[in-house]
Amino acid sequence: MADAELRKRTTGQREAQHNGAEKKLAKTMARRKGRSKTVQWVGLGALVLGIVYWYTGIAGIRGGWKAVPAKNARIDPDYDVDIERRDAIVDAFRYAWSAYERDAMGYDNYHPIEKKGTELSKAGGIGYTIVDAIDTMQIMGLADEYKRARDWIAENLTFERDDSFNTFETTIRVLGGLLSAYHLSGNDPVLLEKAKDLGERILPAFQTRSGLPLPMVNLKRRTGVGEEWLKSMVSTAEAATLQLELKYLAHLTDEAEFWYKAERVMDVIKKADPEGGLVPIHMDADTGQYIPSEIRLGSRGDSYYEYLLKQYLQTNRTEDVYREMYEIAMTGIYDHLLHKGLHEKHLYTSELLVARDMYGQPVDWDISPKQDHLVCFLGGSLMLGAVTAGALIDNVSVPPHSSELSETGKRDWTVGYELIETCMDTYDTATGLSPEIVHFYVSDDERDPSENRHKDWYVKGMEDPLGPPSYDARYMLRPETVESLFIAFRLTGDHRYRDYGWKIFQAIEKHAKVETGGYVTVLDVNNVESAKEDKMESFFLSETLKYLYLLFSESSVIPLDRYVFNTEAHPLPKFAPNIRTGFS
Ligand SMILES: *[C@@H]1O[C@H](CO)[C@@H](O)[C@H](O)[C@H]1NC(C)=O
Ligand SMILES: *[C@@H]1O[C@H](CO)[C@@H](O)[C@H](O)[C@H]1NC(C)=O
Ligand SMILES: *[C@@H]1O[C@H](CO)[C@@H](O)[C@H](O)[C@H]1NC(C)=O
Repeated sequence: MADAELRKRTTGQREAQHNGAEKKLAKTMARRKGRSKTVQWVGLGALVLGIVYWYTGIAGIRGGWKAVPAKNARIDPDYDVDIERRDAIVDAFRYAWSAYERDAMGYDNYHPIEKKGTELSKAGGIGYTIVDAIDTMQIMGLADEYKRARDWIAENLTFERDDSFNTFETTIRVLGGLLSAYHLSGNDPVLLEKAKDLGERILPAFQTRSGLPLPMVNLKRRTGVGEEWLKSMVSTAEAATLQLELKYLAHLTDEAEFWYKAERVMDVIKKADPEGGLVPIHMDADTGQYIPSEIRLGSRGDSYYEYLLKQYLQTNRTEDVYREMYEIAMTGIYDHLLHKGLHEKHLYTSELLVARDMYGQPVDWDISPKQDHLVCFLGGSLMLGAVTAGALIDNVSVPPHSSELSETGKRDWTVGYELIETCMDTYDTATGLSPEIVHFYVSDDERDPSENRHKDWYVKGMEDPLGPPSYDARYMLRPETVESLFIAFRLTGDHRYRDYGWKIFQAIEKHAKVETGGYVTVLDVNNVESAKEDKMESFFLSETLKYLYLLFSESSVIPLDRYVFNTEAHPLPKFAPNIRTGFS
């Protein structure tokens, strides 16, 4: 089946479910018979539930504008710094950084329990942890730590490494980190020089027939590298999450090539015409078309949506094409991916899986009620979008008035608010930390008797109490919820968000901190004695602690009207583009 036909089915789905619900049910059941149990297709319940949703809409959301989030909320638009909590975050950063510096200075990855570092590649490191963390030091005002990190970059950082590095990760962590540090340093030329060198080594990834970048790049040989088993396959979000970095680099260096390579990707994606603005997670770099694959807001999907809004904000709302793409995508999410929990009625996002016929041809979509922690960026992003892309005036109030937002702005604000509450609910575990992935109940039948009866969600793969925890059960120091809390607090001044963030931080202190120094992954969030995995992800320093620090700071620290954060929490200043965009 052609892509176009598959895509037609997404919008067709709603109608089909209205008109031919029974026929479709029979078809789906027949299809499901042949499937292996290990494939996590959604049960019949999801489909039935899905139909109910298409009929009713997300009851309570449409028109359910929540200007002031809660009754009795302590709203304080002129809030001040919370010194005590903010300083506790700085202490945590120092605790983590000093352990890394002591045991692993210069290494890409840090393993706090073994007290050692490892490199991403045998060919040598690329400053992954140092560069990712350095702007947090600048923002926190840690001058000594900053100086040592900066000198390490000046003396020892090199990208002359003969191996394949992930195009996306290298861009968001290392290029983004260097650019942000350059700006915050007051233009230390060493940092821009390194950024430019890295940018030039990344550009060859874009040498494909369509212009979509290959997933990896050999930094020394300056060649793009494809996946071994499908050379031209690229992840949509990875291709569409390089733009803030490359465009800012173009702005700083006046080298238009960075700009056009990044912008071309957006043009290709738009021309491939995502149905309802929802993009399958894989594309073909030869044809520039979608490969039939899942639609989701978690891994390989998430930051595509994030960067639609942020590209609009980065150039100070001058490129309307991104606002349009963003609005279409958010409407697609609203129409096709949002659901309400079975019991507590928490709003959540589901995924769409490709359903195939007996010949392996994609014929339809199945709804999977699975939400990654990664999706928790979306609540804050929707609220930010509501007061910018969805605003009727330039500067909306804190919190916004109903009259200041368009209808879609109000819709997105309310959905964003609800999604943050849901993400906070996933932190309601024995440790107070959220699992990596939750599944939502769609029917009473599938309920695991050992689970809490009142919850909307559960962690999959935990049926055997003696078995190892499933992959889903871990908390790996991820930032997305505190990221949303930070944005929500800045836009509302509602102290609930500071309290939420403080609660999460305390759980991290209690369960993820290790005595040897640093913080690690907790493998089972529902076990206070959980085993740990010996890794401190660099995004803990770059994102989690930075967003927590900003949550407790004054609004004048990295103000949202002047900065956009890249997807690794590196703040980049907005600017008026001196390169004209050729894309519309
Ligand atoms: C650069 O690396 C060398 C060798 O590991 C080390 O001795 C030196 O201290 C590093 N420079 C900085 C500024 O960290
Ligand atoms: C909105 O805020 C920006 C940044 O603070 C300011 O430059 C601009 O003049 C404001 N616009 C209006 C209409 O108040
Ligand atoms: C963005 O636009 C506003 C007016 O809409 C202006 O006041 C502000 O200075 C601009 N900012 C930048 C960085 O160009």
